[in-house]
Amino acid sequence: MTETNTVTGFIHVFEPGGDPVRKPLLLLHGTGGDERDLLALGRSVAPGASLLSPRGKVLEGAAPRFFRRLAEGVFDEADLSRRTHELADFIEAARSRYGLPAPIAVGFSNGANIAASLLLLRPEALAGAALLRAMPPFRDPPTADLSDKPVLLLSGLLDPIVPAADSERLAALLASEGAAVEHRSLPSGHGLSHTDLSLLTGWLSRL
Ligand code: MLT
Repeated sequence: MTETNTVTGFIHVFEPGGDPVRKPLLLLHGTGGDERDLLALGRSVAPGASLLSPRGKVLEGAAPRFFRRLAEGVFDEADLSRRTHELADFIEAARSRYGLPAPIAVGFSNGANIAASLLLLRPEALAGAALLRAMPPFRDPPTADLSDKPVLLLSGLLDPIVPAADSERLAALLASEGAAVEHRSLPSGHGLSHTDLSLLTGWLSRL
């Protein structure tokens, strides 16, 4: 079902899943994507999971995003912080509307960056997160209690947008706050590969 309403505040799709053991997935698209982008991926990596997929509210030209940036890889951190809280409030409202436990975020690129920000600013909003091609969201990151929060970080060694050192820094940051981080660097670029999908499927099935 696709809906916009004032209760949850975001254009989104909710697809109820048939498997009560599976945690719901919060699907967060990349720049220029929308609420439909990651639905097929979600169905394939976690069959039977409920899917909650909002559209980012910020427009860069015609491209939806989850927060403003000043340049590629340079974030408007005040906007990021405000948008992170807005997204966490959406998750809370959607959970009570659809009767869901805390979801696992599966974010790609811009969606992965706001998922990392959710972990740092509103960790209670998520049961864990798979961050696909993410970078550290804040220059001076806040502290957070991420004790045992499962995090999968998949980065590309040939990624022109996220240098390897940045994904290492993000993995170290989340681990230092207590998250159970699994970080894999793949021989790929910013786009996702079959290896990403099979690592993600395996990680989700072990949660
Ligand atoms: C971002 O702006 O979040 C990152 O640069 C990734 C992107 O969307 O290109």
